[in-house]
Amino acid sequence: MTGILEGKVALVTGGASGIGRATAVVMAREGALVAVTDRAEADAAETVGLINAAGGQAIAIGGDVTRESDVAAMVARTVAGFGRIDCAFNNAGIAGRAVGPPGQRTHELSQAAFDRMLAVNLTGVFLCLKYEITQMLSQGGGGAIVNTASIAGLIGLATSAHYVAAKHGVVGLTKSAAIEYAQDGIRVNCVNPGYVATPMTKETIEERGEEILAKVPMRRMGVPGEIAEAVAWMCSDKASFMTGASHVIDGGYHAA
Ligand SMILES: NC(=O)c1ccc[n+]([C@@H]2O[C@H](COP(=O)([O-])OP(=O)(O)OC[C@H]3O[C@@H](n4cnc5c(N)ncnc54)[C@H](O)[C@@H]3O)[C@@H](O)[C@H]2O)c1
Repeated sequence: MTGILEGKVALVTGGASGIGRATAVVMAREGALVAVTDRAEADAAETVGLINAAGGQAIAIGGDVTRESDVAAMVARTVAGFGRIDCAFNNAGIAGRAVGPPGQRTHELSQAAFDRMLAVNLTGVFLCLKYEITQMLSQGGGGAIVNTASIAGLIGLATSAHYVAAKHGVVGLTKSAAIEYAQDGIRVNCVNPGYVATPMTKETIEERGEEILAKVPMRRMGVPGEIAEAVAWMCSDKASFMTGASHVIDGGYHAA
């Protein structure tokens, strides 16, 4: 397929659902060969099915971003399948309700919940950067990486201290890596979505959608494709001067 990512090899984490799936599909539409990774391997294979049905090329790889050996294997299997890695979207993540009851203030969070949140949403991104950058440096020719942060990487949100801390960490990791690898031609940015309709946000929106949407100037949630289009562009050579940036896509939430 021809497009802004023609001939590039892309690795997507969290590619089995939501924003990751939509981005894998858009990257393939734009000509990339896509490694769709996720701990939910069967659902990642479904994403691959969507890509193949549209005439693209993809492979599914199972793996948990909190396990260093899994991340190393995801990168190795991508290289074994497609020869190199030019672009990566480090997007796998969890919301607060995956680690404990919703609505907890900071003093009510357990250490286990806090640690698990950081393991997936921050350490997972670090491990992906570590192995992707090692591969990009070894092959030469630069690369482009986008990490999924959030508006929660830029502002505080009540009852989400662990999520907010992890996402602020992603913004910091992104800036440091951008500086370190600028001379190697590797660009590192993050995307900062506002509320997007995915399985992750379903229950929260059912419970307090009205309250949330009242704070969004566009008065609606985003759809995954609206994040995907930006990520594909950020991974392409069209974004050649963009590095270390936080790209907010939130219907105006952060501006209000
Ligand atoms: N949906 C939103 O409103 C929103 C807003 C801002 C940021 N984000 C971020 O976007 C990213 C994608 O979220 P989404 O809304 O598409 O959610 P989602 O639940 O639809 O998809 C997340 C995917 O990540 C995978 N995953 C979770 N933990 C993993 C692990 N340890 N190893 C490998 N894969 C793992 C899941 O299996 C799932 O397929 C997350 O980082 C999330 O924090 C989402």
